[in-house]
Amino acid sequence: KRIILVGPPGCGKGTQSPILKEEHCLCHLATGDMLRAAVAQQTPLGLEAKAAMDKGALVSDDLVVGIIDEALQRPSCAKGFILDGFPRTVVQAQKLDAALEKQGVKIDKVLDFEIDDSILEERITGRWIHPASGRSYHSKFAPPKVSGKDDITGEALIQRKDDTAEVLKKRLTSFHEQTTPVIEYYAQKGIVKKIEAEKSANVVTEEIRKSLA
Ligand code: AP5
Ligand code: ZN
Repeated sequence: KRIILVGPPGCGKGTQSPILKEEHCLCHLATGDMLRAAVAQQTPLGLEAKAAMDKGALVSDDLVVGIIDEALQRPSCAKGFILDGFPRTVVQAQKLDAALEKQGVKIDKVLDFEIDDSILEERITGRWIHPASGRSYHSKFAPPKVSGKDDITGEALIQRKDDTAEVLKKRLTSFHEQTTPVIEYYAQKGIVKKIEAEKSANVVTEEIRKSLA
């Protein structure tokens, strides 16, 4: 299966992706995670992306399309993939379609995580992540066994630099202005499935399972 997860910051894309990945043997491509890795390694690409990410703006289409084009060549992605946080503009969606067409494949389903903006601040400001594995926790909704420590390695958890109430506002504006048209783009192809993302994580997982069955 080739699946796109789309929705605002904190809607649950990164939480649901590992479950989908396991159950359907897909590769998980999250442009946000890839960009944060590039920033941490101070690669030229990371240096270029950092300023936009810190202020909650989108990184240039050419940069992210380049990353995704390269990732889609991986043998592990040949059978199927989950795109988490990509495409985020109509230009990115068009470029993705063109790249997939060359491979003779297409997107099967777009899961549109619907959630009210008012819920997202609590989700975002309470998120804690284990940088090495990408595992994420929430101080209220998914707390680690030991406060501030990763359940598996015991290593320290950190907060993302862009996970402040102030930067969230900018990320939400980017989402509504630039990414909502992407949902419309795929709706015209009849492949969008709405997911009620306000429900608890387990309920959302069930809904996704049903929609992919
Ligand atoms: P990115 O990393 O993609 O961030 P985002 O889209 O803002 O999404 P988040 O990762 O914040 O949310 P999520 O939906 O994964 O939430 P999660 O499951 O962790 O992008 C970051 C930046 O990179 C962008 O701002 C941009 O600059 C750049 N970028 C990335 N892709 C780009 C692209 N294609 N083009 C241009 N620029 C790009 O959940 C959040 C919290 O809530 C967690 O703590 C979790 O435990 C908790 N939680 C999850 N589900 C539930 C639930 N059902 N109930 C209660 N709590 C829950
Ligand atoms: Zn995420």
